[in-house]
Amino acid sequence: MPNEFETIYRAENAALNRVLRRALKKSGLALPGDASAARAPGEAHSGPLQILDLACGTCREAGTLVEVFRDFSGSARDVRFVGADIRDRELEEAAARARRAGGPRDQFEFLTENCARLSRHRELGRDFDVTFLRHQNYWNDKPVWQRIFEQGLEKLKDDGLLVITSYFDREHALALKALERAGAELIVTEQNEATRMLDTPGKSVDRHVAVFRKKR
Ligand SMILES: C[S@@+](CC[C@H](N)C(=O)[O-])C[C@H]1O[C@@H](n2cnc3c(N)ncnc32)[C@H](O)[C@@H]1O
Repeated sequence: MPNEFETIYRAENAALNRVLRRALKKSGLALPGDASAARAPGEAHSGPLQILDLACGTCREAGTLVEVFRDFSGSARDVRFVGADIRDRELEEAAARARRAGGPRDQFEFLTENCARLSRHRELGRDFDVTFLRHQNYWNDKPVWQRIFEQGLEKLKDDGLLVITSYFDREHALALKALERAGAELIVTEQNEATRMLDTPGKSVDRHVAVFRKKR
């Protein structure tokens, strides 16, 4: 039987699932390699769907992201999911959760990493389909988060998507501007109608979701 927190997290993830799907649909975009876009029926994809979750903490969203983006890619592709956070304490929990979240052929990796300096990590590659940042924390340290946004964009394929969520209205607005300065083009921003209010006024879970692509 799930404990009280797990029940809350499930409800939060269900709300995230809905708002993400709505935002992606409104974006009118497709993921690179979307089966419905360019491939002949039955033609194999060249590799896994790659999702990078930056500043992921305990990464409670891993299963939701795999499900939503796999559906959005229009195929049953295997997933390579990489989560990174500067605090390793939380990544053990993240790894345990992720093992329960994916299919048998999905791969999950968790890195203790300063995401403002991800370019040091060459083996990570630069061909992610999605970079995701849940509850980006831009106003906590603007220069560091500006750099994290830049690094998240740099790790994307040319037609990959960068998606953020935010706790606060004002922080969301600031992050949208910072991302545009980093070279991202805002495609859609969406409010989460089922956001869960937290104890700080104006703060709620996945209050806003925004979808970007690289500026062309
Ligand atoms: C607001 S929390 C969000 C955590 C998680 N994404 C969530 O929604 O529960 C911000 C996260 O950013 C991480 N963080 C802060 N600076 C970082 C950096 N330079 N590199 C990687 N992670 C960082 C923190 O450790 C923390 O987990």
